[in-house]
Formats: sequence, C-alpha cells, structure tokens
Amino acid sequence: MSEFVLKPLGELVRSREPGCGLLGKVFSRQDVFDTDVDIFFHKHWIMVGVTADVLEPGDVSIVDIGKASVIIVRDDDENIRAYRNVCRHRGARLKEADKSTVGILTCPYRQRTYDLDGSLRHAKHMGKDFDATCRNLWPVHLKVVGTHVFVCFVEEPPADMAKLDETMTPRFSPYELQNTKIAFESEIVEAGNWKLVMKNNRECYHCEVGHPELTMLFVAESTSSSADDMDEEGRKALDAYNKAQC
Ligand code: FES
Repeated sequence: MSEFVLKPLGELVRSREPGCGLLGKVFSRQDVFDTDVDIFFHKHWIMVGVTADVLEPGDVSIVDIGKASVIIVRDDDENIRAYRNVCRHRGARLKEADKSTVGILTCPYRQRTYDLDGSLRHAKHMGKDFDATCRNLWPVHLKVVGTHVFVCFVEEPPADMAKLDETMTPRFSPYELQNTKIAFESEIVEAGNWKLVMKNNRECYHCEVGHPELTMLFVAESTSSSADDMDEEGRKALDAYNKAQC
C-alpha cells in the first residue's frame, strides 16, 4: 500500500488555520479541481458572456464549462436563450466553442435541425408516430444582469442570483449597458488554478504596480485593505493571520 495517503477533501479544507489561506494542495490536486468544477461551475450561476456577444437574432455564442457546453443564442423575438450544446438524438455537440450567426441550429452528425427557440424542427427517418415536441433542446437557466449573461445547469438554481440582481441592476442602470457593443476581444488562459486567479482578482495589492491605468480611476487608498479602515470582523481576521505568522 502507498505510504502517501491523500487527505479527504473535507479534511483538507478544514485543516486551514484561521486567518490563513487554503493549503497548497487545495490548488494543485486534480480531485480537488474536479470537485470544484462539479460544485462551482456546474451547480452555481456562472457568467458566460455579455449580451453584445449575441447582438442580433441568430447570433450564437458557445461556451464550454468543465465537461459541459452551453449555447447562448438570440432568437427571432430578440430573447436571449441558453441550451445545452447537445443534440437530443445521440448527444452530438451541435457547435464548437466559438461565435457564429445562424438561421437554425443543425446537428453536424445526422442533421437534426432546431429552431432558435430550441424546438426540434426536423428529424430524418423517425416515422410518422415520432413526437418531435418532446425532443427539443434542453434549456439552461439564464439570467441577464446589466449586460452580463449568467447560466446555471442545475434544475433548481441557487437563489443568490436574486440578491445579485437586486444589488447590481440599479447600479448598472445609468450606463445603459444593453446598448454596448464589443470593440475588442482577447482570450487569456491563465496557467494556474482558477482559485488563485480569483484570489488575485479580489485583492488589489498588486494594482498600483500592475495596473496603474486602473488605479488612476480610484480614490486614493481605496485599492488595498488598510487595518485602520477595517470593521471589527476584518480586524479579527487580520489579528488571527498575524498571530499565525509568528
Ligand atoms: S446526434 Fe444529432 S442528429 Fe444524431
């Protein structure tokens, strides 16, 4: 038997000392990553783009998330819809991750076709008793906040989206984000675990050096956490962190 025994995930997470970051293995183990994908990316709301990705009827944006893939499409009535990127016949992927403009969605395998509202329009060789109405594309929950398009794959999505909507919609509203267009796109693939990227994104200690053009827009001292400005909870966490470093 291997002398190296992996700690179960729960134990690994719970072994974090108060005030300290997660253990390194939480960022490097494949089984942790697989669990992350399953929980955070497949069961929670995930932002997959902006409304300008599908500006006109027929515009399609495909986004792969873990093992899943979602079709974001603007239908003929200008509604934005989301479906699983899976043909209802034998599960072929309808489209590869990219953007395009289509009249209908056609499966590349045996050419079943779907309307932009997800309904099955045509299926070859299925006989006269075939009921097309129960072979439509699987819908995926979709919510637009401002111009940001979120999807959730599970049947009962988390209710926290209502809070995000309630908080952010009034803040976004003066900017009329629905009228924005995409002027430039670039794709950045980070060579690191997604949690490190998010940690980096949530603090701005690096901003003054890394993004001076951004910090020019902020009020002075608002780009980092000063102990003097912390509330009680923040100060307690900082104390615990400082003690753990001794
Ligand atoms: S898998 Fe799409 S037509 Fe068969």
